[in-house]
Amino acid sequence: MTDMTTPASPDESLSSWLRLREPVDHASRSVRVLEATLAAVARLAADAPSVRVLDLATGAGSNLRYLIERLPAAQEWLVVDRSPVLLRHLLERTAAWGQARGYEAALSEGHLWLSGPSLQCDIRTCERDLTTLDGDNLFDGRHLVTASALLDLVSVSWLRNLAGRCRDAGAAALFTITYDGRTTSCPEEPEDALVLELFNRHQHTDKGLDGDAAGPDSAEAARRAFADAGFETCTDTSDWVLDASHPALQRELIAGWAHAAIETDPEQADVISPWLTRRLLHVKAGESAVRVGHQDLAAWLP
Ligand SMILES: C[S@@+](CC[C@H](N)C(=O)[O-])C[C@H]1O[C@@H](n2cnc3c(N)ncnc32)[C@H](O)[C@@H]1O
Repeated sequence: MTDMTTPASPDESLSSWLRLREPVDHASRSVRVLEATLAAVARLAADAPSVRVLDLATGAGSNLRYLIERLPAAQEWLVVDRSPVLLRHLLERTAAWGQARGYEAALSEGHLWLSGPSLQCDIRTCERDLTTLDGDNLFDGRHLVTASALLDLVSVSWLRNLAGRCRDAGAAALFTITYDGRTTSCPEEPEDALVLELFNRHQHTDKGLDGDAAGPDSAEAARRAFADAGFETCTDTSDWVLDASHPALQRELIAGWAHAAIETDPEQADVISPWLTRRLLHVKAGESAVRVGHQDLAAWLP
């Protein structure tokens, strides 16, 4: 019988992946970096009617949902991504998330208004390619520029441009869940180091954001770019710690490592495929534990 199921589009698949990782991203974020950010935003927005936030490569809105209830009550968000599918999911998911928490949600084309006794939050979406940050007024008047799970995809020159745009706007910055190349898996398999080395090499290839990606070096490159632009910085780890309670996330993650490693060196496919089978069996048996290294960064002008 013919399978009539329509395959998910790349953006639909990415949306499912972002939904799967959202609770782990939230649980992993550094409280110290968050607190440094909130202190900087409180100083910058002390006399403003609302906190103005820019979320870059916002995806389906995980970073937005993490920050909404931690920032001051009156907020104006501009959330930017190249994918109209993800931006639509962001509005729908955030409206449902808000209603489940007792807020009123008014949803219209490209816009969501969330309100309640302790929240007045205006969210506008912007479909835009962020390969270049130049040429429009995205950053103007922002108190906070933020992104999650983005910086490892961009080049060093993109990071330096970002720091310059934040400085020109006088904005504070918060960048979270930046992959830093540290990964450990239990139980160990002999090919773990090979797969990690090939995966980390893949992370340096061009991801469409201004040339070869800084990949696992991006957290340090970002810290340096912001320090060179005159910012004070605060950094901390935000590692994923995955165990038997995260089987689906582990399966997707491990399959992604294998795929990227084979793409980097197709001649290793015969070694990596059996490694993948063994790792997935560990997950199925509830015996697999994985730690993935991430970094968070806050930056503000003195
Ligand atoms: C790993 S996802 C992170 C999404 C979201 N920040 C989160 O934490 O769930 C990376 C995001 O970058 C967006 N992206 C990648 N390249 C882009 C580009 N050139 N311009 C705009 N967005 C881009 C993707 O559409 C995706 O939403």
